[in-house]
Amino acid sequence: MTSTVPKHAGRYPEGRAAFPHKHLLGLAGLQPWEIYFLLDEAERWVDAARAGAIKSDALRGLTLINAFFENSTRTLLSFEIAGKRLGADVVNMAAAQSSIKKGETLIDTAVTLNAMRADAITIRHAMSGAVALIADKVDCPVLNAGDGWHEHPTQGLLDALTIRRRKGRIDGLVVTICGDIRHSRVARSNMIALATLGAEVRVAGPATLVPETVDAYGAARFTRIEPALEGADVVMMLRLQTERMDGGFFPSLREYHALFGLDAARLALAKSDALVMHPGPMNRGVEIDSAIADDPERSAITEQVEMGVAVRMACLDVLTRARRGVEGWA
Ligand code: NCD
Repeated sequence: MTSTVPKHAGRYPEGRAAFPHKHLLGLAGLQPWEIYFLLDEAERWVDAARAGAIKSDALRGLTLINAFFENSTRTLLSFEIAGKRLGADVVNMAAAQSSIKKGETLIDTAVTLNAMRADAITIRHAMSGAVALIADKVDCPVLNAGDGWHEHPTQGLLDALTIRRRKGRIDGLVVTICGDIRHSRVARSNMIALATLGAEVRVAGPATLVPETVDAYGAARFTRIEPALEGADVVMMLRLQTERMDGGFFPSLREYHALFGLDAARLALAKSDALVMHPGPMNRGVEIDSAIADDPERSAITEQVEMGVAVRMACLDVLTRARRGVEGWA
């Protein structure tokens, strides 16, 4: 279950050429080896944390601003913990207290954040594209912590890392993502990353919640969960993002659960050792039964949270290397 050796070392170039990007706005367009490089970097932090070497001073003296314009529990906490474990000074800006509520434009917020001379900024925003807009206006690296329906790149990376650690590979696996695909940035980043790394990706949900266009992300579309589960190595369940729904996309939660909820009978359609995942927050009894979510043999849900911290440490470390003058990266 644990792996200590980076799986793809030697398959990517040395130094900055391994990840030549200033920001992490999404996983679309990344090369497979760029993704593997970040996974291998994260793997080191997993090992270090498990060995008790939780603190590093890699980012000492640097300031990380977490600007979250939308609610979050695990993503905000894990960026905060990641920054602190790397020795950075971490400042969290919560939307409810920000001037956004007073009518400030996104550009003015970006200019303000820039004037504070942060060394890295993570941003979560309800509007797709907002993070890219801010990234364009600031000098430091920007990490997308989720923008609208668009992308959630660190979630895609932590899911890929979880799968690679539990299954030993990603290439050739059948991964079924089930739920509200339409409104999910998690689904989008996962479709992109997993297809880029050679998995067979299937997405399933009510026809209203699975866009016709998922094939553009390399995924196969299903409007029933059963055929999508057949032979799956990994089953990823998603929440109904009701806060993003404008109108009726499904009749009722009870009906949704009856048709798309993951229970033991449905899970039996997947491979006997299929891994169950969920990015959280979970709605128990709606998209997933508690007995499955809490089964340590099948469920990787808490491991996903652990991988989240390591992946965010890796991203913060890699993206600030140029600023820190790390050899080969400046
Ligand atoms: C997801 C998000 O915010 O996009 N959660 C997360 O980051 N762990 C998924 C969700 O809200 O359902």
